Amino acid sequence: MKNFPKNFLWGAATSSHQVEGDNFYNNWWRWENFEKTVERSGKACDHYRLFEQDFDLARELNHNAHRFSVEWSRIYPKADEFKSDEVEHYLKVVAALRKRNIEPVVTLHHFTNPHWLLDFGGWANPKAVRYFVEYVEHIVKALGADVKYWVTINEPMIYVYYSFIIGIWPPGVKSTREAFKVLNNLILAHSNAYKVIHRIYEENKWPRPYVSIAQNILAFTPCRNFFLDKEAAYLRDQVYNQLLLKVFTTGQMKIPGLIYDRLSFAKETLDFIGLNYYSRHFVRFDLFKPGELFGRQCSLDHHKAGRLNEMNSEVYPEGLLKVLLSLKKYNLPIIITENGTAETDDNFRWQFIKGHLKYLSRAINAGVDVRGYLYWSLLDNFEWHHGFKPRFGLTEVDYATQERKIRESARKFAQVCKSNSIEELT
Ligand code: FCB
Repeated sequence: MKNFPKNFLWGAATSSHQVEGDNFYNNWWRWENFEKTVERSGKACDHYRLFEQDFDLARELNHNAHRFSVEWSRIYPKADEFKSDEVEHYLKVVAALRKRNIEPVVTLHHFTNPHWLLDFGGWANPKAVRYFVEYVEHIVKALGADVKYWVTINEPMIYVYYSFIIGIWPPGVKSTREAFKVLNNLILAHSNAYKVIHRIYEENKWPRPYVSIAQNILAFTPCRNFFLDKEAAYLRDQVYNQLLLKVFTTGQMKIPGLIYDRLSFAKETLDFIGLNYYSRHFVRFDLFKPGELFGRQCSLDHHKAGRLNEMNSEVYPEGLLKVLLSLKKYNLPIIITENGTAETDDNFRWQFIKGHLKYLSRAINAGVDVRGYLYWSLLDNFEWHHGFKPRFGLTEVDYATQERKIRESARKFAQVCKSNSIEELT
């Protein structure tokens, strides 16, 4: 069967800092001003102003869903300054989507923090959880009547890894101890936010929401046929891919033979799995990298690797099938909250999308309950420390003029969104 399930969500994703522009009050803005990135985000795609026009594009492309994030630092530019006019802005964003029959999928934390959070020690301090949940409460009360899908935290593991293990993202810390503290607070933040969201929906008698995190899953493969490479790949899968999903389903933090902790408060705090799938890593054992779980990515010209995209990331569509099958055990619906590639040659983008959709359809036929596919991204945008160079967009953005141009791959993907089928894919 090449048809997708009824009411399947088709669309694209963005995040506030990467598209909105002028996010003066967050930690990334500061980081950029300290020249820690190749470029500054500046006006980015000016999406804060142009969102209506951008949603017209999404509609033209037959999207029936769209994922975006609310910028916490706009709502609370200072710890004690709440901006109701900024809440109004996001109400307009949701209304603009609804008007176009596009289902909003709303992320509450997508890597950026208000910069005042650091005055309290950032996410290493449990106070961050309180502040976050307070912000979540405001947003959910305001937007909830029109939102069914929530992503509390985008890629918690990636955030911890980049910001606290290898330290190339703000606050630029390299400390396993700090990383653990942050991870624990993020677990608490998600669990508390999950409960608060459900409580608000119940109080208002709104239909039950679907709440999750967006979990980045990489297909990890041992570099060589060598037991230590196999162990290193296994460990990475357990920690980076599975750990949080296990915590949020069973309430246990468990890595066989290594870690066991009971976190009952976190049990059953996922209504679906938000999956971000991009690529595969070949893993090689490295005794000198304990902080990185005794592994490192082995050379990208590895003989088994497929084509690399412009960010040196392997295009590996089969991986999506493998990952989806590996998630079946959680017995939860899945929404692909991100999948995409950075290409200047748009043909490659279409090959990428097509390849992934074929494996997605196979996973669904094999009984995996996937409810949606959101391509990363609707627009070219600010790709964190890489700046504006990587081109992930279905739509090309000319940053000098803010003009948008729909790419050919987007038109082809639009046919799939319209027909809800890959029958006619060539
Ligand atoms: C994901 C992030 C997203 C974007 C893509 C390319 O890991 O969630 O913000 O940077 O990668």
